[in-house]
Amino acid sequence: MVRSPNNLRLSMHEKLLSTDTTEPADGGGRPNVNARELQEVRSGNPPASKEQLRSALAEAREQTRTLLAPLNAEDLTAQHSTLMSPLVWDLAHIGWYEEYWLLRKLGASTPARGGFDEIYDAFSNPREDRPNLPLLEPAAAWRYCDDVRASVLEHLDGLDLEADNPLLGNAFVYGLVSQHELQHNETMLQTLQLRTQPYPLGTEAPATLNDEPLLLQGEAVFEGGHAEIGSDHTWSYDNERPITRITTEPYAIDLAPVTNATFESFIADAGYDTQSLWTSEGWSYITSEAISAPLGWERDSSAGRTRRRLGNLESLPAEEPVQHVSWYEADACARWLGKRLPTETEWEIAASWDPPRQQTTEYPWGDTFETDRANVGRRSLGPAAVGSLPSGASALGCHHMSGDVWEWTASDFLAYPNFEAFPYKEYSEVFFGPDHKVLRGGSWATSPAIARTSFRNWDYPIRRQLFVGFRCARTL
Ligand SMILES: [Fe+2]
Repeated sequence: MVRSPNNLRLSMHEKLLSTDTTEPADGGGRPNVNARELQEVRSGNPPASKEQLRSALAEAREQTRTLLAPLNAEDLTAQHSTLMSPLVWDLAHIGWYEEYWLLRKLGASTPARGGFDEIYDAFSNPREDRPNLPLLEPAAAWRYCDDVRASVLEHLDGLDLEADNPLLGNAFVYGLVSQHELQHNETMLQTLQLRTQPYPLGTEAPATLNDEPLLLQGEAVFEGGHAEIGSDHTWSYDNERPITRITTEPYAIDLAPVTNATFESFIADAGYDTQSLWTSEGWSYITSEAISAPLGWERDSSAGRTRRRLGNLESLPAEEPVQHVSWYEADACARWLGKRLPTETEWEIAASWDPPRQQTTEYPWGDTFETDRANVGRRSLGPAAVGSLPSGASALGCHHMSGDVWEWTASDFLAYPNFEAFPYKEYSEVFFGPDHKVLRGGSWATSPAIARTSFRNWDYPIRRQLFVGFRCARTL
């Protein structure tokens, strides 16, 4: 059932993975229980317990319910953009994916409601065609998800987690499914960003995101030499493995992502009109699509520059990282700044390599997720100002490397040496190659369980609905 990925408009979220949410969509402030659970069990030492697996699944479902709660049946069934699925497809796909991996692949009996492979397998139909499928209505989709979950929990009760099954190595397949649901939360937020109706933004961001920001200018320097990238955690995905020792030349990388203010200067300096700043593909892209600003930016004659955030019109915050730019726009702006995009190896070293200790960390500040160090998991429904969350800096001194915005890198999505596809080639392997660029670091909408420094996201260089920005680097 392998199909060509290039004509299906899939994103990585539809292959397997997923993203998350720490807080409810109302901008509350409580820590992300699921993220903590996932992070604790990822290492496999001690092995994941059934209680931790139940908790991870339950928290993912709660995040999905919270995200979709403000939406009515029409919101859920409409296709808001041909780039995205109707939200109700994502919802039932979450249930289908769970049925496939936690029931069928583990030899459990499936619920009476089912038989949806041709509708909800992401490889079966491109997104633009999904509104024409016989989709479950929202209430039926929820019932399907609930039926599957009930069967999954019943099966888990009697399951031998020590059984000789690669899917059960440290209960990997439960991490796969819980992360997948969380990742679809971010996919659904992309849909909500593309639709015109406003999604409630909640009250206010957590206090830690409102601290007076540091003035973050300048670069961190890596003097060159050996470092390590990748992960050997049992819940890491195949494309992150194995830990790989590399050697790199000296380089400098910005302490922070490029801000809206800087990008506005790029526009004011005729950045979109200066062909020499663009690759030929990028120039062709922006001219044919008539692109002259990041997605969602507008100009109001009285209010100046404004933007649409989840359907809400607001003034453009100068000091936030720019988001909703394609790889081509990021590449051109970096060139305008006299720099370039970092390779993903350079990015990961800056995010997680600790030169004095000669080891990597799972988050920029260490191996344990801490809520106040990163803007992830929908704590606020947008990036934090550059310079906030100073305790989230990496050993090399870079900020905002977990959360806020995904960051485009210069790198194509390729396998690390000694890569082994697991649990199936359609997760990563079929997407390796020059068509996809790597994004790193997670966004404000990404679960901290996924916004780890080794996590590799990928997408086409034309994509702009992602919560993505960039930072710059240069060779020394
Ligand atoms: Fe999916």
